[in-house]
Amino acid sequence: MGKIKVSIADPVISDEEIEEVVKVLKSKIIAQGPKVEEFEKKFAKWIGSKYAVATNSGTSALHVALLSCKIGKQDEVITSPFTFIATGNSIIYTGAKPVFADIDLKTYNIDPKEIEHKITENTKAIMPVHLYGQPAKMDEIKSIGKKHDLFIIEDAAQAHGAIYNRENVGNIGDMGCFSFYPTKNMTTSEGGIITTNNEEFYNLARKLRAHGASERYLHDEIGYNYRMTDISAGIGIAHLKKIEEFNLKRIENANYLNNNLKEVSAIKTPYLQENTTHVYHQYTIFIRQGHRDDWVEFLNEKGIGTGIHYPIPLYNQPIYKKLKIKGNCKKAEIAAENVISLPIHPSLTKKDLDLIIEAVKEASEKLT
Ligand SMILES: Cc1ncc(COP(=O)(O)O)c(C=O)c1O
Repeated sequence: MGKIKVSIADPVISDEEIEEVVKVLKSKIIAQGPKVEEFEKKFAKWIGSKYAVATNSGTSALHVALLSCKIGKQDEVITSPFTFIATGNSIIYTGAKPVFADIDLKTYNIDPKEIEHKITENTKAIMPVHLYGQPAKMDEIKSIGKKHDLFIIEDAAQAHGAIYNRENVGNIGDMGCFSFYPTKNMTTSEGGIITTNNEEFYNLARKLRAHGASERYLHDEIGYNYRMTDISAGIGIAHLKKIEEFNLKRIENANYLNNNLKEVSAIKTPYLQENTTHVYHQYTIFIRQGHRDDWVEFLNEKGIGTGIHYPIPLYNQPIYKKLKIKGNCKKAEIAAENVISLPIHPSLTKKDLDLIIEAVKEASEKLT
């Protein structure tokens, strides 16, 4: 591999984030404390939801959200197989079974038409993933949920600030879950958050995050230690001030790549749905000609960092096979074989973007 000149991710850690963390360290309240509460209030306000519960990861946010809807053994949750494994695992942690519905190859998100076929008497919830920062088709998903009395838990891990029909994702279903892993559109180092407008879910989620305690040392649920620290919340508070700016930069970068790559017939650039704001957590292209792995090798050789999101549909993961968690989603399999994510983060310069364009054009000449 050549030396990577344009990296696939580059978390913004400037003086402001450092100062926030130093302030927290100096306060000596370094586990969950007032900064977490401040971050929750600010995040909820930004998303437009009544409540937010911060956690120590996006995975724990999903787990707690499912438990807050009382999902467990014998239940089924319909989701996409074309996602990070945390989506499926959070369902498995509760004792419920993930049931996979195929995706739409335009957006790579779950196809609402595929959801209806998967509903059984055990289905309790739908967990759409807003993959790459592009909102899933929430109107259709919500009306299926309403018709069959199902909870909707949004996996918005990759979609901070994405908008669907004027509504922020994470504020459309019953609960929304975000991740603040360092590669995400905003970070807290590790971290996650649940958003909801339902007071009952909110109260249970808060309890489950901290060992099921209704008051100090009085536990009426088996909960977890899923608390966020004030150190993390400090970074989150600093990033929350800049997230709109970060997202705009990602969108601007994506528009520049789209305009310059639209003539390259060997690839398909990201599709943009109407009435949505795609916040480009990833800028993912589909390889129409040539072999995807050759493209990756070529781009890396030219110094362009790449990612494969994701190479294996969840039901084909070794552990899912062992657990006999099955799926048959042909479009997800096609996507898994042919996608490549290119750098899109807000720190890219015009020179970086031009290097990406040049490398993609060259690959299309040499590999097809
Ligand atoms: C779609 C999706 N769901 C869930 C998660 C889990 O988030 P975390 O890594 O913060 O646990 C991630 C992040 O990696 C993700 O991309």
